[in-house]
Amino acid sequence: KKVVLAYSGGLDTSIILKWLQDEYNCEVVTFTADLGQGEEVEPARAKAEAMGCKEIFVDDLREEFVRDYVFPMFRGNALYEGTYLLGTSIARPLISKRQIEIANMVGADAVSHGATGKGNDQIRFELGYYALKPDIKVIAPWREWDLHSRSSMVAYADKAGIPVPEAKRGDASAYSRDANLLHISHEGNQLEDPWWEPEEDMWTRTVSWYDAPDEPTELVITFDKGDPVAINGEDMKPHEILTKLNEVGGANGVGRLDIVESRYVGMKSRGAYETPGGTVLFHARRALESICLDRGEMHMKDEMSAQYSELIYNGFWFSPDREMMQAAIDKCSESVKGDVRLKLYKGNVIITGRRSPNSLFDEKLSTFEDDEGLYDQSDAGGFIKLNALRLRTLNRVRGGH
Ligand code: ARG
Ligand code: SIN
Repeated sequence: KKVVLAYSGGLDTSIILKWLQDEYNCEVVTFTADLGQGEEVEPARAKAEAMGCKEIFVDDLREEFVRDYVFPMFRGNALYEGTYLLGTSIARPLISKRQIEIANMVGADAVSHGATGKGNDQIRFELGYYALKPDIKVIAPWREWDLHSRSSMVAYADKAGIPVPEAKRGDASAYSRDANLLHISHEGNQLEDPWWEPEEDMWTRTVSWYDAPDEPTELVITFDKGDPVAINGEDMKPHEILTKLNEVGGANGVGRLDIVESRYVGMKSRGAYETPGGTVLFHARRALESICLDRGEMHMKDEMSAQYSELIYNGFWFSPDREMMQAAIDKCSESVKGDVRLKLYKGNVIITGRRSPNSLFDEKLSTFEDDEGLYDQSDAGGFIKLNALRLRTLNRVRGGH
């Protein structure tokens, strides 16, 4: 009996590791991913070794994460409930996929994760596992064990000889955080009062707009086939682009979000998110789409976007409905190519220009000057009259408003 554990190397998943060894009496294979969370992943190897693990996987998944998950999602302009850029949601399917690959490689019959029984993450991990390996056994310690308080967990760790950082011994005055190259989330703690304003030092990836530079930072972002490919004329890989935009976005206070969202399990939850690079790209893409996409394409995509976002939020990345929408989104992205110029300034992303070889913007057509007969203004009279036919009939039959 073998289980592959998604292991961060932190206190909670170290306790889980030990608990799996004790309760299930099974061999634990650890998997630690570098998704750009900004913490060293190698220490997890030594910790797993110290706890007797023989098979230990530490993978740098940053490039795959941005290229195959974040950028495809961005093509769909995904925003959950109109605001959340899905920074945590989109990382889960990749972790699940890699965990199942490892399970297949080492002949494990089970997988395990450190998400609680109250949140979205358990759903995302497990829908991923089941979609990729239908008969896999899933162990979710948080739903099974009786360690229901911080102090019982610390006691368990102490008994097991797992080092507990001093900061984690106190009361539960720490945020629950999740980080990767796309975002960092802050939840719990004082955020559980939706009226409470986060203190400045909760934020870790963005400066306050009060401290941001008084001069804007100007950038030109180049897109090809719907994906950003260069910044200021310099070609970069997907994860390099996001890294760079996180840096300049964060330095200008761009990408802070404070929301109450609807979890899939049914409750409301408060979250504060920092997504600097993702926020820049969201605005840049929309600016380019405004000249590259036909009205019908764009509006159709906008209509799909809420559903598409909900599928990702709810954990259905590996589903035929998400893939159907992705095919449509990718098709429509083929013509999104060109440059966007923008300024980052005290929390704002200000678009100052857009240009594309595929631009549908026709100066000759939209000009207020003479259009040399391209557009016959007298056509508009009939167009409006026919559109008004219903309204005129209604007025006659039902009376005015
Ligand atoms: N509420 C966000 C979401 O559902 C962030 C979740 C953060 N997860 C975590 N394990 N801290 O996507
Ligand atoms: C958790 O419950 O593990 C984190 C929050 C979430 O998954 O929504």
